Amino acid sequence: MDYSRSSKQCKVLPLIAAMLTTIGGGMVYADGWDPASKASNIDSIVNTRHNMTMSYLGGASVNMDSSRNDYGEVCVYCHTPHGANSTIGAPLWNRTNPGTSYTLYNKPLTSGQTPTAPGVNSLVCLSCHDGTVAIDSVINMPNRPGLSSYDSTQETTQNDAFLDTWPDNSPTLHAKFGDCMQCHNATNLFAPDFAAFFIDTDLRDDHPVGVSLPDTAIYDFNATTATTGNISFYDTNANGRADSNELRFYNSGEGFEVECASCHNPHGTPVNGTPGGPLIPSFMRVNEQSTLCLTCHNK
Ligand code: HEC
Ligand code: HEC
Ligand code: HEC
Ligand code: HEC
Ligand code: HEC
Repeated sequence: MDYSRSSKQCKVLPLIAAMLTTIGGGMVYADGWDPASKASNIDSIVNTRHNMTMSYLGGASVNMDSSRNDYGEVCVYCHTPHGANSTIGAPLWNRTNPGTSYTLYNKPLTSGQTPTAPGVNSLVCLSCHDGTVAIDSVINMPNRPGLSSYDSTQETTQNDAFLDTWPDNSPTLHAKFGDCMQCHNATNLFAPDFAAFFIDTDLRDDHPVGVSLPDTAIYDFNATTATTGNISFYDTNANGRADSNELRFYNSGEGFEVECASCHNPHGTPVNGTPGGPLIPSFMRVNEQSTLCLTCHNK
């Protein structure tokens, strides 16, 4: 992660926050949520930027119709009830998994371990955020009478001819994250800049994934307190379940490791666990960034 950017944000955000408060704008978070977003980030994934129908933009969502199929359903860009991807161990996964290889974090780690390739619970995120697969590249499109809505080759290869069978009015560029930035760049005043969110395939500048928790008796780390299935986690409420606000390590075959979903919940996690209210910004699992770091790191 680019922390220099976060500290730059810290100086700019209070200014914007003050301006919004003055003009009576909505709720503004101090910890990095982009107040320019049209997504209210309240209650459910439907109101977040992970709603690829962008229905929260109302009619303005047509701005994107030339660059992605609008399936009109929120979950389908990531999940399908049937015909899910058999090449990746993610829940009912509907997205193309092309087997991309990544440039791994390469600075020396305190424990001396070497990061392994991103596991399942990172690959799911990277299937959009690395820019190698179109946002709308799914295996099973929502059913439309008389149309073929399923293509098994989509499991590993993006097939634009198949995606083009989705009925819409204009020719569609099946945009990958980088293509979205034709509009979502720093010079366009009408679309928010996505540059910081484009993780790409070079993970050297991101918090390491594919690393395991070092021996907590030797290194400055806190031990997890519970394990269920492939998740080892900090069970803050001691209920034995990995709740969405609990940080975790995932085992996808190489032991329990940090992955994107260790820190982020793609559906959004309610602030203070209160359903129906605001979600923690940036799809984080915990609200306070120092709390986030200090859950695992004992500094
Ligand atoms: C032709 C220009 C254009 C392209 C290409 C484009 N967008 Fe947009 N996008 C816009 C505009 C303009 C808005 C702002 C609409 C508004 O303010 O009501 C927007 C808004 C958004 C928003 C809401 C942002 C927010 O927080 O308010 C998301 C999310 C989004 N676009 C995603 C995408 C994705 C994903 C792609 C690529 C698949 C994409 N866009 C491609 C023009 C574009
Ligand atoms: C932007 C992608 C995305 C969208 C959209 C999405 N999900 Fe998910 N979902 C994921 C990922 C990634 C995981 C795996 C999380 C992990 O690694 O722990 C997941 C896991 C799940 C799980 C199983 C584990 C859990 O967290 O409970 C369920 C159930 C689920 N999603 C339901 C839904 C439903 C229902 C919708 C639509 C309202 C939806 N998802 C929309 C990405 C998405
Ligand atoms: C279906 C494509 C897709 C998948 C899968 C996906 N994302 Fe996103 N994500 C996007 C788009 C598009 C945006 C909107 C552009 C932006 O704000 O970055 C976004 C935004 C974000 C943001 C910034 C939100 C904000 O409001 O500032 C974070 C953080 C994020 N995603 C993390 C993740 C993580 C972690 C995962 C996996 C658990 C994931 N995403 C999976 C497409 C996806
Ligand atoms: C160790 C915890 C951690 C891990 C692992 C992690 N992130 Fe993040 N991520 C963060 C934090 C903290 C932020 C900053 C949130 C803020 O500023 O509100 C962030 C921000 C982001 C953003 C928004 C852009 C930005 O720089 O603010 C995206 C997109 C994102 N993460 C995607 C990912 C993806 C994809 C992965 C896996 C490759 C991942 N993250 C792994 C902690 C993590
Ligand atoms: C889910 C647990 C987890 C969280 C949360 C987490 N980290 Fe880490 N972090 C790790 C692990 C594991 C390593 C690998 C450590 C090693 O092998 O030495 C690591 C490595 C690092 C490193 C590389 C240097 C080192 O110690 O080897 C830095 C710097 C770092 N983390 C900073 C942060 C910051 C800042 C945050 C909060 C934004 C954060 N981490 C959140 C687990 C976590």
